[in-house]
Amino acid sequence: MQVVITGGCGFIGRRLALKLLEQGVLANPSGGMDEIKSLVLFDVGEPTPVIPSDPRLKIVTGDICSEADISALISPETSIVYHFAAVVSSGAEADFDLGMNVNFDGTRTVLEVCRKLETPPRLIFASSVAAYGGDMPDVIQDSTIQRPQTSYGVQKAMCELLVNDYTRKGFIDGRTLRLPTIVVRPGKPNKAASTWASSIIREPLQGQEAICPVSGNQAMWCLSPRRVVDAFVRAASLSGDEIGANRAIGISGTTYTVREMLDALVSVAGTQMLDRIRWEPDSGIQAIVSGWPTHFNPVRGMSLGFSYDKSMVEIIESFIEDELDGTFVS
Ligand SMILES: NC(=O)c1ccc[n+]([C@@H]2O[C@H](COP(=O)([O-])OP(=O)(O)OC[C@H]3O[C@@H](n4cnc5c(N)ncnc54)[C@H](O)[C@@H]3O)[C@@H](O)[C@H]2O)c1
Repeated sequence: MQVVITGGCGFIGRRLALKLLEQGVLANPSGGMDEIKSLVLFDVGEPTPVIPSDPRLKIVTGDICSEADISALISPETSIVYHFAAVVSSGAEADFDLGMNVNFDGTRTVLEVCRKLETPPRLIFASSVAAYGGDMPDVIQDSTIQRPQTSYGVQKAMCELLVNDYTRKGFIDGRTLRLPTIVVRPGKPNKAASTWASSIIREPLQGQEAICPVSGNQAMWCLSPRRVVDAFVRAASLSGDEIGANRAIGISGTTYTVREMLDALVSVAGTQMLDRIRWEPDSGIQAIVSGWPTHFNPVRGMSLGFSYDKSMVEIIESFIEDELDGTFVS
């Protein structure tokens, strides 16, 4: 079986690739388990840190908006496509055309190339809770109407609908996971409006200063990298009948305020961590993040077997174990 991950050199793509190489098998669209003979990561850049070389792994550089690149990437041998390539939230807000090109037109290109294959591949798309916004209930239910208030959220919501329609037409066997904010993200801050949620844990643990641009009361719907990778593996194994006509699934997470995140950090690593947080309010970031929903009741996601972290302490400890070789700067 061949598995393709677009945006495969990014944070989640790279983590998923490592997991797939480790487990060596994945559910195929017919319901059985297949050996992964080829794993192709498609991206504009290389993975950082690099992925150890593996005969099954191929890294292809290209542009998600180029039909030629995507036609060369996805072939009749491709059974599963994870579509992750994207411009993240603040990036899509700052540059409308770039967001539309990559997030919307790029997704359409992927869908159209898949549509041309004789056997519809299983396509798994990464959406976001940013697909909600505006006038929302206190707790988002599976049935809550999406009224995103950012360009990124609108692009994700449009693509969720496209995945549903391409599936209804039989062009693909699609499914979308609507992700919480994934923390703790390794590396450096990025252009996501939520980047501080990882920074305020990651930087202090490495003896560095982190900037927190939002208030201590700001809440966020979170999931760890370990759990999101498990969710994408799980997504490949679900049959279309199990998911139903609405292929977009809000997966589980947990709500933490900034204060609760920092309390957990203190309990794992000590009060000196708080000295490494610089509070620098940013009204632009606060406005984007405040527009995102913070509390969910993902009944469908739970019933389909998507699970969540038991505590913020568990999330922080898994970050130290997975990304910091089990140690931190005290
Ligand atoms: N990380 C999160 O908290 C989070 C939350 C909700 C949704 N998501 C979604 O999950 C997916 C993966 O997120 P991530 O955190 O790994 O993001 P990321 O930015 O680390 O990875 C995205 C990858 O897409 C690539 N890319 C961008 N433009 C491209 C183009 N024109 N052609 C080819 N590749 C291109 C980037 O180089 C990057 O490696 C994205 O679709 C994102 O919108 C992530």
